[in-house]
Amino acid sequence: MSYKNQIASVLAPIVNLEASEIVRLMETPKDSKMGDIAFPCFQLAKTLRKAPPVIAAELKEQLEPALQAANAPVAKIEVVGAYINFFLDQAAVMRDVIATILSTGEQFGASDLGQGAHVTIDLSSPNIAKPFSMGHLRSTVIGNALANILDKLGYKSVRINHLGDWGTQFGKLIVAYKKWGTEEEVRQAPIPALLRLYVKFHEEAANDSTLEEQGREWFKKLEDGDSEAQALWQWFRDESLKEFNKTYELMGIKFDSLHGEAFYNDKMDRVVDMLEAKGLLVEDEGALVVKLEEFDMPPSLIKKSDGATLYATRDLAAALYRHENYNFAKALYVVGGEQRLHFKQVFKVLEKMGFEWAQEMHHIPFGMMLKDGKKMSTRKGKVVLLDEVLQQAIDDVRNVIKEKNPNLANADEVAKAVGVGAVIFHDLKNFRLNDINFSLEDMLTFEGETGPYVQYTHARACSILRKADYSAKNSGTVELAAGALEGAESWAVVTMLLNFPNIIQRAGADFDPSVLGKYVIDLAQAFNKFYAHVRVLDEDEAITLSRLHLVAATVQVLRTSLHLLGLQAPQEM
Ligand code: ARG
Repeated sequence: MSYKNQIASVLAPIVNLEASEIVRLMETPKDSKMGDIAFPCFQLAKTLRKAPPVIAAELKEQLEPALQAANAPVAKIEVVGAYINFFLDQAAVMRDVIATILSTGEQFGASDLGQGAHVTIDLSSPNIAKPFSMGHLRSTVIGNALANILDKLGYKSVRINHLGDWGTQFGKLIVAYKKWGTEEEVRQAPIPALLRLYVKFHEEAANDSTLEEQGREWFKKLEDGDSEAQALWQWFRDESLKEFNKTYELMGIKFDSLHGEAFYNDKMDRVVDMLEAKGLLVEDEGALVVKLEEFDMPPSLIKKSDGATLYATRDLAAALYRHENYNFAKALYVVGGEQRLHFKQVFKVLEKMGFEWAQEMHHIPFGMMLKDGKKMSTRKGKVVLLDEVLQQAIDDVRNVIKEKNPNLANADEVAKAVGVGAVIFHDLKNFRLNDINFSLEDMLTFEGETGPYVQYTHARACSILRKADYSAKNSGTVELAAGALEGAESWAVVTMLLNFPNIIQRAGADFDPSVLGKYVIDLAQAFNKFYAHVRVLDEDEAITLSRLHLVAATVQVLRTSLHLLGLQAPQEM
């Protein structure tokens, strides 16, 4: 149903370019008075050896009969300078788009681009015994939306929570717990308790130099399977996960795998052996490293002088495991920009090991969450607990609802959907590499570019349909009465709806959910403008029904967009 494709396939034999290349060159004019699709002729100038405006004018003559013969819904073509501007046959396009959306429902915009291939998505991945940071929130939200979008494009996403549950810090934690901790404290509030112990350890270690050594010993015991160390570690992990799960549950996020770093404890020898066999391991001040000088990078540290493995070693083992288990077409790592070098190194080491699939691994970095212009941190035991932030958002929304819609039946559920959605959307409307300023106030306004605004627009459109008894009136076939959807406001909504499949493709190809985040704001705005200008309920039944069809199609696309971004779409709020 893509009109760009349809026009491109008519244009292809005439200009001797691939249709896909033509689609790539096509633009959408900023001003709809200039048409709906524009094709610039600059690129053709080289091969045809003519000025682009001349080419455009000549092409117009050839195109007109060809488009007619192909039955393409183009009403007219205009040449402006080097551009050929196509004006779509609005009535035909509207009927076509609306009918397609209403008959395909949540499937609208889906494609089989991915052909069922696996894409592993490493997301969230918080560190056990530490608070769930804003960075982990960003990873969770961006990774989850990407997974949804890739699924829609026909891939099979695998959400992997690569928990930070291994490393020397667990040795320190065990020492601290045995010295200063109580079971009671950890049970009551695991994360703050474990954080307190961790902070205490570092304070004490400043005066007692034996503590570090004890920490290393306990981590060694843990790595070697000592039962006391194992039991404590397991308990810290379980208690932490319980906390994290509260957050995941609130956000409606599920994982396909919770294999964190510890899972690779017994899978690292193999990596070390493979590196050894390939002659890639070199000794460097007692440690074993893989040199990456030829890529202008510092060496990748594989094994410390005391034999302990490292973050990178575990990521190498994880990459092999994921490739063997999922035979992925792509492997994504949604991790903050601070770890750029780490992932470059890991990918390069895999490349040096001779794995061609290393080309398909992508680090998806993102910027920081700032508060008053500064990085939000959890240092010095000052904890910003994410579930408290979410709870605050929910409470604030509940207050707004109490005021605006005191009789709302499922107010608690809606407050949850809107409060959490606000936090998620605030992240996803921004290009991921940008830093974001954390402000509950900004997130929660019902006007402006927010989750609540989009959800509210959706709910309002739903209520129009309910009040007009649309489901009873809709026979299933879409006929649009003459004059029902004539103005620029209707056309603006329709062209946005039409563009939805392209938006999903772009968001997926660029690993950038904000393409969809921005789109859904634009769609909501276009719809609100339509609703302000066009009286949906007309005296004429046929006209009313035509307009309701457009409302219903908009509801569908708003809802699908929200779902893809990881938000709910309440029907009332
Ligand atoms: N736990 C790590 C951190 O908080 C993030 C892990 C990212 N994933 C990975 N495969 N390294 O920094």
